[in-house]
Amino acid sequence: SISENQLAVMIWDGSDSSPSEEHTFKVSMNRSAKLEMENSTGSLTLKLDGRLVGFLSDHEVFSGGQVWFGFDGSREWTLHQLRAEAQGDGKLRLVSPPSMEASQVETGSLRGLAAKQPRSLAIGTALSFNALFADESYRTLALGQFSMLTTENELKPQFIHPQPDIYSFAEADSLIGTGLANGMKVHGHTLVFGEANPKWMRDSPPTQLRQIMVDHIKTVVGHYKGKISSWDVVNEPLADNKSGDTTSPDLRQHIWYRAMGEQYIDIAFKTAREADPNAKLYINDWGLEADGDRWDSLLALVARLKQRGVPIDGIGFQAHVYKDGDHIDPATLRRHIKTLANLGLASRISEIDVHGENQQVQASQYSGVLQVCLAEPTCTAFSTWGIADKYGSTTEIGSYPLELGDDLLWDSTLQPKPAYRALQNILRPK
Ligand code: XIL
Repeated sequence: SISENQLAVMIWDGSDSSPSEEHTFKVSMNRSAKLEMENSTGSLTLKLDGRLVGFLSDHEVFSGGQVWFGFDGSREWTLHQLRAEAQGDGKLRLVSPPSMEASQVETGSLRGLAAKQPRSLAIGTALSFNALFADESYRTLALGQFSMLTTENELKPQFIHPQPDIYSFAEADSLIGTGLANGMKVHGHTLVFGEANPKWMRDSPPTQLRQIMVDHIKTVVGHYKGKISSWDVVNEPLADNKSGDTTSPDLRQHIWYRAMGEQYIDIAFKTAREADPNAKLYINDWGLEADGDRWDSLLALVARLKQRGVPIDGIGFQAHVYKDGDHIDPATLRRHIKTLANLGLASRISEIDVHGENQQVQASQYSGVLQVCLAEPTCTAFSTWGIADKYGSTTEIGSYPLELGDDLLWDSTLQPKPAYRALQNILRPK
């Protein structure tokens, strides 16, 4: 990463989550700078505009055959050109963007089977740009098995709006464009959230947050108008625990709530509706599958929003099952979906993943939820939070070697698990 007078180099060799080398060089930069990094016999030589800056060990990162390069500049710096060259008799192949062409949708795939159902039900998954780009097997599953994608992280404010005046649409555009080109619907995740906000948002004075939120929603929803068919306008508005304070209606006390109170939700939905009147607008939260405080708080919130004429179309049930024994009861889930339908609201299973306490229990958990969604006409999508354990969001990223989770339909080698077969069976014409 570079700034005005500093060049920082970090090297990760894959054995740990922190870099194996972190070195800062004092330099003096011109407005435009040419940086060179040369690797030979175990060492990296750094040059700036042709002048030697210093040496570093290469930590053998080149011996694996594939190197990822990342660049971070302070706000004044842009990466204009990146060039790689092999020296001597070395060979170098730049991995060019893979073809993201529509793959043949197999009739036995989840999306192929769902298309034969008498009702239309989107079968979705959270997609991550990096794996889609870099791993062909993952790409085959992503584009062949699912008819809808949720942007896993790419639209979170932290990534798409890193500075007040900078929107960084490239990765999200590519992910969303790939989905659309393959006949997938796109669900946008997420506009307003207590997490994944860039530092500048978190540090902004509360009096400015309303304007910041409105501008953000207008810009992002406007950019994807006609492309993103539904949005998590507000993600996880409910507090993790009841506050005990009866004047505060169990809502999460994050920057948006603190700045605007519950009104932040009204304003967010109205702004999103105006920016794309055809997009369906959702609140998305966890733990709504079961009876209890969270469900009661959600219903009370929905009632207030409806009464104030807030343009909300539906509720996303995240349906994460993270622990042994933490089971979703299909009958309760079904009752909740019906209750929302009576209030004129759609539902979607937005982020299901099921801890693999054993593969049969896992399969029956996934199945029970799909059956409910299929049976209820207001359930618009059944969407998993990821595809394969190799890239699952429950991976313990702090420990090395990585401890992969076991929550998804395909395993760490991208082989299907019993849960996948179970979903196929449910969708198969009887
Ligand atoms: C998760 C992503 O999957 C991870 O890659 C990221 O590091 C953290 O966020 N509920 C949500 C999602 O609404 O935004 C979360 O996504 C998973 C839980």
